[in-house]
Amino acid sequence: MTVEDRSEAAPASDVVRCVNVDRRYGTAGAVVTAVREVTCCVPPAARIALTGRSGSGKSTLLHLIAGLDTPSRGTVSWPALGVDRRGRPNCVGVVFQGPSLLDDLNVTENILLPMLFAGKSTTDANRRARVALSDVDIADLADRLPAELSSGQAQRAAIARAVAMQPALILADEPTGRLDRHTGERVIAALLAAADIAGAALVIATHDDAVAARLPTQWSMRDGRLDPTR
Ligand SMILES: Nc1ncnc2c1ncn2[C@@H]1O[C@H](COP(=O)(O)OP(=O)(O)OP(=O)(O)O)[C@@H](O)[C@H]1O
Ligand SMILES: [Mg+2]
Repeated sequence: MTVEDRSEAAPASDVVRCVNVDRRYGTAGAVVTAVREVTCCVPPAARIALTGRSGSGKSTLLHLIAGLDTPSRGTVSWPALGVDRRGRPNCVGVVFQGPSLLDDLNVTENILLPMLFAGKSTTDANRRARVALSDVDIADLADRLPAELSSGQAQRAAIARAVAMQPALILADEPTGRLDRHTGERVIAALLAAADIAGAALVIATHDDAVAARLPTQWSMRDGRLDPTR
């Protein structure tokens, strides 16, 4: 893979800054506060494990950090990334917790689509897709449709799609949740390598203590609150 020069777009500033962020769902009588008074920064070379019980707010916080959701209160900004016309941050790769591949496109086409939207050449995008598929050990599944994959294979295809763009921020939500231990270790190694090669920050939400232990920084969530000190 080639390393893109982000020296102008990303000096030493944080990739993400959250200040006093709440995210509430529902209305009046039935409000759920999924994220509560969260203030945190993701530095450019961060390697962060986001842990916490089911329902503690990990996915909600990742979606806010990705710019896919809007806080009910407080601000999320991306000083090192800049934003597009819709106010969404540039250069973010997201691995969602649930299925996210487009059903009518094969694995390669799923990986190519965001790169072609971003203006990469077909040749470059195809080369990146091949490398990313090989990194997560599913090069042989390049022509399969999502319906023809196991859930763990689909998860790895989604990881390949996120890292092929060489984003400046990689957010992975339970990327090993449907994988056996050996494959999970390979996938975490691939995410770490992709982050190193792209010079990206990496945040992984996980229930797996062994995955969290691979990362130097631990953030834990409880009832929507974040404890970034552990
Ligand atoms: N769209 C929604 N509408 C209403 N409540 C929601 C919605 N999405 C999430 N929640 C609630 O917000 C809280 C946090 O959910 P979230 O998905 O962020 O947790 P999580 O830590 O990612 O859990 P898990 O480990 O199970 O993936 C939960 O109480 C959940 O029920
Ligand atoms: Mg979740």
